[in-house]
Amino acid sequence: MDKPKKENIIWHETAITKEDRQKLHGQKSCVLWFTGLSGSGKSTLANKVEERLHSLGISTYLLDGDNIRYGLNKDLGFREEDRKENIRRIGEVAKLFVDSGIIVLSAFISPYTEDRQKVRDLLKEDEFIEIYTKCSLEVCETRDPKGLYKKARKGEITDFTGISSPYEAPVSPEITVNTESMSIDSCTDQIISYLMDKRYI
Ligand code: ADX
Repeated sequence: MDKPKKENIIWHETAITKEDRQKLHGQKSCVLWFTGLSGSGKSTLANKVEERLHSLGISTYLLDGDNIRYGLNKDLGFREEDRKENIRRIGEVAKLFVDSGIIVLSAFISPYTEDRQKVRDLLKEDEFIEIYTKCSLEVCETRDPKGLYKKARKGEITDFTGISSPYEAPVSPEITVNTESMSIDSCTDQIISYLMDKRYI
């Protein structure tokens, strides 16, 4: 573990390591980082993948954008600096879960490439799996599960991703799931197969 440098704060190594915890759980811990537009299926898919992993006896935890904004990040809004801080905190939380030996799924729009890269940099190379839930703005807007696109078009919500705030799609994610043309079950299969092929589970 690299020791962070901070004045008067000394990093304390723990007797039980990440490897010990992974061994106890019988799995390799990692982050499944779902990114995509609102309505692209991040939460739905992350939930399905978690259900599938759970039924396989794998210890998981799901961090979901809307839920985290009720608690840990309730002080944050949707301006650029708030979104950056949102993702920074989630990245740190995800890292703690990886250290605890658990497979953590995170479902946040996470619109900025730079912020997703910073989370990737917090972890080891094979611990961060970026999953792009690819779906056109048109289809997300037609789905509009929470009625938010309608409000954003009317100007009732400002800084809305895809309408009045940018979304930078991943350039080389580990997995791209096309939620526009594929069913949630097929997308789930695709992710589970990846985890099996790469021996995470
Ligand atoms: S992120 O951009 O900071 O990663 P996050 O995933 O936490 O976003 O939250 C997105 C969720 O907040 C959306 O699914 C939607 O339900 C809600 N939301 C409310 N206002 C906005 C907005 N201006 N832009 C995007 N999503 C919003």
